[in-house]
Amino acid sequence: MEKKLNQIKLTALEHINSATDMEQLEELRIKFLSKKGELRQVLRGMGKMDAKLRPVIGKLANRIQQEIEEKFSSKIHELKEKQKTQRIKEETIDITLPGKRPPAGHIHPLNLIYGKMVDIFVGMGFEVKEGREVETDYYCFEALNMPKDHPARDMQDTFYISDDVVLRTHTSPMQIHTMEAKQPNEPVKIICPGRVYRRDDDATHSPMFHQIEGLVVGPGVTMADLKGTLEAFFQQMFGASTKVRLRPSYFPFTEPSAEVDITCVFCSGTGCRTCKQSGWIEVLGSGMVHPNVLRNVGYDPEQVSGFAFGMGIDRMAMLKLGINDLRLLFANDLRMIEQY
Ligand code: DAH
Repeated sequence: MEKKLNQIKLTALEHINSATDMEQLEELRIKFLSKKGELRQVLRGMGKMDAKLRPVIGKLANRIQQEIEEKFSSKIHELKEKQKTQRIKEETIDITLPGKRPPAGHIHPLNLIYGKMVDIFVGMGFEVKEGREVETDYYCFEALNMPKDHPARDMQDTFYISDDVVLRTHTSPMQIHTMEAKQPNEPVKIICPGRVYRRDDDATHSPMFHQIEGLVVGPGVTMADLKGTLEAFFQQMFGASTKVRLRPSYFPFTEPSAEVDITCVFCSGTGCRTCKQSGWIEVLGSGMVHPNVLRNVGYDPEQVSGFAFGMGIDRMAMLKLGINDLRLLFANDLRMIEQY
C-alpha cells in the first residue's frame, strides 16, 4: 500500500507539473484528490489492514495528500501569474503609433462668408442687429414707402401667412424697427444680417436666402459716404484693386437709388463668361433713404439724411467660393462642404 501511495504521489506531482491550464488542473484534482479520486480509492483498502500498520499508512496518506494539495496551489499560482503576464503583453498599447482622428465637423462655407462680411462691417464701426423673420405688411412694405397698390410689390414674390402677416422678403424692415426704437433724428449705423424668403427657386434663386441690410443715418450723410463705405467693404472682401460703380436704379424706399457693381472677381474686369464680358458684377441695391421712410419713423428729412443698402450673402458666397449653383449651398452635400 505504501508503494501504491508513493506511486500515486509521483504521478500526481508529475501530471500537475506539466498541466498548462486551469481546466487540466481541475481534471487532475478530481482524478487524484476528490472523494472518488485515486488516493481515497487506495485508502478504502485500509480496513483489511493490520491494525498496527494503519496509523503509519494513515499518516503517510495525509502527508501525501498535503503534498499534492500544496503542489496544486503552487501550480495555480504559477498559472495565474502566467495568465497575467500574457494579458499585459496582449493589452499593451503602443503610444508611439499615430492616433486615429475622429471626423470633425466644421463651419459651413456660407457661415464662413457670413462671418467675414459681418466682421468687416463691425471693423468699420457698424452695430449688428438681428431681426424677426415674420413681419407685418406694414414693416415689410408699407413703412418702406410701398403702399398696397404699389407696383414694386410685384417684384417681391411674397409668402403670405395671412393678409397682413408675411415672411419677410428682404431685411429692409429692420430699417424701420431700428429707427422706431431710437429718439427722433438719433444717428444710426447698423447692419442687419438674416434670412429672407421669396417664392423663387432655380440655380440662382432659393426660396430662403440671406441678406445683409445696412443703414446709416445722421446729419449730412451723403451718397459719397455710401460709395466710400461700399468700396472699403468690397476691397476688404475681394482685394484692394476691387472697384465699385453705382448705376441709377429704382427702389421705393430710396431716392435716388443705385444698383452697385464691382469689378468681376473672376477676371478682374477684363471680361469673362460670369460677367458676360462686361467686367462688372451686380452685387447689391442701395440709395439715399427716402424722405417718406424717415417721416414714417418720426425722423425729420430736413435735419438728417441716410444711406441704405441690401446685399445677398449667398451671392457673395458664390462669388467668393466660385460656385455657380446656389442650391449647392443648401444641399448639405459633404463632398462640397468639406472643400472649404
Ligand atoms: N431690399 C432690397 C431687395 O431685397 C435691397 C435694397 C435695395 C435694400 C436698396 C436697401 C436699399 O436698403 O437701399 O431687393
